[in-house]
Amino acid sequence: MGAPYDPADERTALARGPHRPAYHFAPPTNWLNDPNGLIQFDGTYHLFYQHNPAEPVWGDIHWGHARSEDLLHWTDMPIALEPDAAGVDADGCFSGCAVDDGGVPTLVYTGIDGDRARQCLATGDETLRQWEKPSVNPVVETSPPGVDAFDFRDPFVWREGDGWSMVVGAATEPDSRVLLYRSSTLREWEYRGAVFVDDRPDVMWECPALVALDGRGRGRDRDRDRNGNQYLLLGSLLPTRAVRYYVGSYVDERFEPRAEGVLDAGDFYAPQPFVDESERIVLVGWVEEARTEAAQRAAGWSGLMALPRELSLDEDGRLRTTPVDEVRRLRELEYDLPAVGPGDGTVLVDQPRSETVELVAEVSGTGAGTGTEPSSASISVLRSPNGLEETVVRVDPDRGTVTVDRSHSSDDPAVETHEQTAHFEPTGDPVMVRCFVDRSVVEVYADGWACLTSRVYPTRADSSGIALSTTGGASVDGGTAWELASVWDDFA
Ligand code: FRU
Repeated sequence: MGAPYDPADERTALARGPHRPAYHFAPPTNWLNDPNGLIQFDGTYHLFYQHNPAEPVWGDIHWGHARSEDLLHWTDMPIALEPDAAGVDADGCFSGCAVDDGGVPTLVYTGIDGDRARQCLATGDETLRQWEKPSVNPVVETSPPGVDAFDFRDPFVWREGDGWSMVVGAATEPDSRVLLYRSSTLREWEYRGAVFVDDRPDVMWECPALVALDGRGRGRDRDRDRNGNQYLLLGSLLPTRAVRYYVGSYVDERFEPRAEGVLDAGDFYAPQPFVDESERIVLVGWVEEARTEAAQRAAGWSGLMALPRELSLDEDGRLRTTPVDEVRRLRELEYDLPAVGPGDGTVLVDQPRSETVELVAEVSGTGAGTGTEPSSASISVLRSPNGLEETVVRVDPDRGTVTVDRSHSSDDPAVETHEQTAHFEPTGDPVMVRCFVDRSVVEVYADGWACLTSRVYPTRADSSGIALSTTGGASVDGGTAWELASVWDDFA
């Protein structure tokens, strides 16, 4: 027998890779996809995740586990769930959630056995270190009539009234459905029909989640009446891999959307929300790779989590997405960013280096609205002195777009280079752009109205500069940059 698997050792060994993030959560080693089982239990946050502990490619899916006091600094824990060769999860422990069942931490997940998907439970001790699969498994034995036996997965459970409710993603013919179940014990579930039907053909809703927005989040008391019965429905949609949100009402076991949009238009997938002990709705999402499988194998790891985000409704009932406040604690040395007016050309910023920074800049358009010449302000990061390698974050306040242009992000011809764009409603007001750079991640927020997380892989050691520029009548009205601290002890 070899030495027992210690995720902390594995993490240290990989810390020096050039694209390894310093303050985003990545797996200690090998493969990571969806966040699972997010919960704050007795004050401590727990993050589980889809994990292949043997290779940096998808397969043999276990649940990895880490815990944190602040959603930033994570301690690796032993693997929580592994496939049981003789069990209903012989071929994988797929995505699911965690709930506090009267003091017993309980995971609800999809067990995969051949081409069958069944919903299962695991119960934990009070440290959430050891997990048992009770003999009652599976707790949902078959998919309902008309629902594919495999495309029936990703349970998301919450307390409702004196029982539990659960949504499960499902591919049906000719539409896709978010299925609703009810239970009083978590061990026996009654199928209640589709809480939401997406009638576009050939779509599969993965990782659905339904959360109450009213009575939660910022400004909730003030807005409770106005925003009565407001729910958020999230889904990660195949085959486009769009992450969509719907805000609407949830009445008599049916969800009625009123507004919808894209949660993050970048390399972002399968996010999961949870309500923490201070009643915040916190969201964690998987940031996929945009490099080849060979490059992931060479790196020894694949995938990471976006910064934890807080979701809330504003006074007008619009969904806001901002990084959790804790992220400000990572700020170290602070620098001013210069103002750049129309016609000022490209302004190089001496300091800081851009590998691990937060940049906040106010960007103004012409206020003329759409249909005019593009007027944009650009922040180039991970930029080599000659500008041959650079990642450009372009904001057009008139048109309401944020774009990450990756056409020159890397000299490596094998990485993805297509542009990614997020949209927000232009108001004529300046836009506060917040941009987090973490080696191979660029995570951009436009005032909380649009969000975009992109993967980039600069090849040059000197691709660490910052430059600002404008086109048309747009300007950068100044800003601030902070070097951000690593959250890992052994980070090079
Ligand atoms: C989403 C997903 C889920 C599934 C899991 C398997 O990325 O496909 O639907 O449970 O990943 O790892």
